[in-house]
Amino acid sequence: MCLVFMLSATGCSSVTNGKRIVRVATMQSETHPEYLGLLKFKEYVEKELGDKYEVQIFPNEILGAAQKAIELTQTGAIDFTIVGTANLETFASVYEIFSMPYLFTSEDAYHEVMNDTDYMNKIFSSTDEQGFRALTWYNAGTRNFYAKKEIDSPEDMKGLKIRVQQSPASVAMCQAFGAAASPMSFGEVYTAIQQGVIDGAENNELALTSNKHGEVAKYFSYNKHQMIPDLLIGNLSFLNGLSKEERKVFYKAAELSNEEECKQWDVQVKEAKKVAQEQMGVKFIDVDVLAFQKKVKGVQESILKDNAQAKPIYDHIQKVNKKYEGKDGE
Ligand code: GCU
Repeated sequence: MCLVFMLSATGCSSVTNGKRIVRVATMQSETHPEYLGLLKFKEYVEKELGDKYEVQIFPNEILGAAQKAIELTQTGAIDFTIVGTANLETFASVYEIFSMPYLFTSEDAYHEVMNDTDYMNKIFSSTDEQGFRALTWYNAGTRNFYAKKEIDSPEDMKGLKIRVQQSPASVAMCQAFGAAASPMSFGEVYTAIQQGVIDGAENNELALTSNKHGEVAKYFSYNKHQMIPDLLIGNLSFLNGLSKEERKVFYKAAELSNEEECKQWDVQVKEAKKVAQEQMGVKFIDVDVLAFQKKVKGVQESILKDNAQAKPIYDHIQKVNKKYEGKDGE
């Protein structure tokens, strides 16, 4: 609280012992792949520019939940933040496209699009007016519903109150599935499920273990509605204030953090599934994904109709999707 207040206040100094303190916020815990990725970021920046910069990482929403952290990154109170594109949607509408349900039809297509640095950089640099710019992406897996009761089909969603991210497209998606959507920040979800304020939520497998949601929600249904990337966003004035050489270092550090995160992600998701199943008693359920897909056609159409920036990105992704159609491995 105090820290957030201090950061919100103007004129707060970010120089200690002659070094510029670079503040990086993440919503995740110290064991999460993103935190491990950020350690690489810190290590590289300090190896190359350690006489001038010290990178401090703030996990667990310490500097504020996603929406607050984005605002603080816009003002420069925080220099970098990792947030999902769903949380960026209301700040920069270009990111709404990634909340479209069933946008990617395979993990391969998702990874190819996100790893296409030239393509993604055009999107990343399109938010300059908002005061921030993304440097790289992190895998946040595939999102699925999990709840206190078993969801086998869209019909089971009727009457359920489900937490979604603070993303209007995700609210619309949840409603199209037949549930009541309850947008709230990530850190509030555990208690909300535990106290019965909501019946469940939607996320990747790590939410069950890293955030302990598997303690309070025992049914995880693989309906695979979204693959939403997380992004490392940086304050634009900070980035613009760097020399050419320094900027190169920060971008390289971002690239290294992406590589580490993606590697850790694959390992940790497998582990999370095992722990959730064997130690937390979570039941993983395979459902008819097509039945869920049919429910959200209207949501896909309305994003394309109402958001002029969405269509060209959608078309690009469809081309990549096509390349992997019919291949196994999902
Ligand atoms: C995932 C994702 C975060 C997101 C969170 C949420 O953990 O990586 O970016 O904020 O889900 O559902 O809020």
